[in-house]
Amino acid sequence: MRITRFLAVPVLTVSLALNAAGEVVRLDQMDLNAAEQEYSEPHGNKSTDWKPLSIGSKHYEHGFGTHANSTLLIDLHGHATRLTANVGVDGEVPAGMGSVDFTVIGDGRTLWDSGVMRGKQTAKVVDIDLTGIHRLTLEVGDAGDGIDHDHADWAEAAIEYSGEKPQTITGAPPEQAVILTPPPAHTPRINGPAVFGVRPGHQILYRVPVTGDRPMEVSATGVPDGVIFDPVSQQLSGTINTPASFLLTFHAKNSLGEAEKKFRLVVSDTLALTPPLGWNSWNCFAGNVDDAKIRVAADAMVNSGLIEHGWTYINIDDTWEGDRDPAGNIQSNAKFPDMKALADYVHGKGLKIGLYSSPGPKTCAGYEASWKHEEQDAAQYAAWDFDYLKYDWCSYGNVVDKTLPPLEQDKRPYEVMNAALRAQKRDIVFSLCQYGMGDVWEWGASVGGNCWRTTGDIRDAWSSLSNNGFTSVGHEKFAGPGHWNDPDMLVIGNLGWGNVRPCHLTPSEQYTHISLWCLLDSPLLIGCDMSHLDDFTKGLLSNDEVLEVNQDELGRQAARIAKSGQLEIWAKDMADGSKAVGLFNRSPEPAQVTVNWSDLGLTGKHRVRDLWRQKDVGEFEGSFTGMVSRHGVLLVRVW
Ligand code: GAL
Repeated sequence: MRITRFLAVPVLTVSLALNAAGEVVRLDQMDLNAAEQEYSEPHGNKSTDWKPLSIGSKHYEHGFGTHANSTLLIDLHGHATRLTANVGVDGEVPAGMGSVDFTVIGDGRTLWDSGVMRGKQTAKVVDIDLTGIHRLTLEVGDAGDGIDHDHADWAEAAIEYSGEKPQTITGAPPEQAVILTPPPAHTPRINGPAVFGVRPGHQILYRVPVTGDRPMEVSATGVPDGVIFDPVSQQLSGTINTPASFLLTFHAKNSLGEAEKKFRLVVSDTLALTPPLGWNSWNCFAGNVDDAKIRVAADAMVNSGLIEHGWTYINIDDTWEGDRDPAGNIQSNAKFPDMKALADYVHGKGLKIGLYSSPGPKTCAGYEASWKHEEQDAAQYAAWDFDYLKYDWCSYGNVVDKTLPPLEQDKRPYEVMNAALRAQKRDIVFSLCQYGMGDVWEWGASVGGNCWRTTGDIRDAWSSLSNNGFTSVGHEKFAGPGHWNDPDMLVIGNLGWGNVRPCHLTPSEQYTHISLWCLLDSPLLIGCDMSHLDDFTKGLLSNDEVLEVNQDELGRQAARIAKSGQLEIWAKDMADGSKAVGLFNRSPEPAQVTVNWSDLGLTGKHRVRDLWRQKDVGEFEGSFTGMVSRHGVLLVRVW
């Protein structure tokens, strides 16, 4: 419902201070730290960029300068009578840019909605009767097109009340960390993707992940000449010299039962036919990473059992690099005494190993990088037997060839390294990291990227998580087998960029994180200290029905198919014809979220399965509705 008690006010500006009947509290006099917003910090009397507030050509002394998506909750204690404000995009935003939608909600009912407002537009006046309302929600949405330039002002916002003074509500209510993932069954289950790609003539390295009680007999049929399957290490290895596709069947058997899975081995130019799954050192250790910590991570990947859910890569991020030798070959520094021995160790565990560099002279952390040594570096990585390179823009800005057209400037360093990697007789997954510059999703695949970061660095804060994840709208067109959008690594478990401590996200936010990243077909790189993996985090990382959404061989990234305020539906097509659907609630309060079959292109009755709980929910006609916690998700599959 829209405006119910919106008084027509003939003037352009309202200010309760002038005509208040009861007492008045302005928003800027309240604790605005309670606000949640997806960029910058909430300010009283200042814009997003810390300037005096202005909307259109008018300046305001007071108010709340925020940034979409933003939510401020206020407890009115039922004693307020009126809200007034002048709202709009702050004057610091250029004309036509930024697009926001202000909504005032009272006890869950929409009282006022501005419609879409843009930069330089005159303020709209809010003047609403609040009688009898307890909880007021002031929301600014991004109008559905991402949060660029969405600087939003509640100028001269004030509440008239008598009795108890309205108060903003701070902090998320405590949430219990409920493990939804059922424990793995004792019977065999063959996990991981149904397809794997290798280049002609290159070493095949694929380990079949299998859960279930041991001892377990794992075998493979249909294995082509030139390839062997080792039942002890559960690994396929060998080489095939010409492009081809083979259909294999994996079998697993223990005393309790048997399982079977069809698997396609594709020998072609394309690697990463499904998004890479693994671990990276940055979000937990940053510059404190060393050889021992990488070995511990590899051990923990095996001992925790995560390896049996398909987790594969152990990636060293920045700060492994040493000086170059006199011939210009990159060396590791004292923290990494022997890179080849380390790679052998990780491979010996049935895992793969990755590292990091930059096309500039220095990495982001100031270590030696690949500028003018690309071929030598790629050859060195291959000689050390590395399987994955994250290539981070960093200092390249200082050496970029400014005579090139801007898009060429963005592409060039990645083309150079791609050629160097392709010259190696080894499959090395190529991960581009340049934070989305030049709309990298449009051309990342053309420069050989198997994945590309679409955003800046993630943090374990709701604003960062939702900004990195939910701004993927429209990127789905550019993803597919061999080339994936990457909204950055996972921020769950014990992490902290060198100062390891528990994750700051609430449990619901963590479910949202994994569900959304799976729907987005993002590479999943665990960012926590693997040696201190708590049960909740393990539950998040070991749900095979959830991981299947990410690893589905069709490789169809989810699109946002519906949005209503802060409730969003994201859906992706699965290879078996079903749909994986995320019902997301980005608002700070629980909400009912509905997915309509018509939005999924479906009619009639459909079976719905809750993927986190691994339980069928029932058959539904027309739509499915579920209650979703604040910042939470219901991840379902619809057949
Ligand atoms: C950043 C990158 C991070 C991490 C860091 C290392 O640019 O986005 O993920 O790799 O550099 O210095």
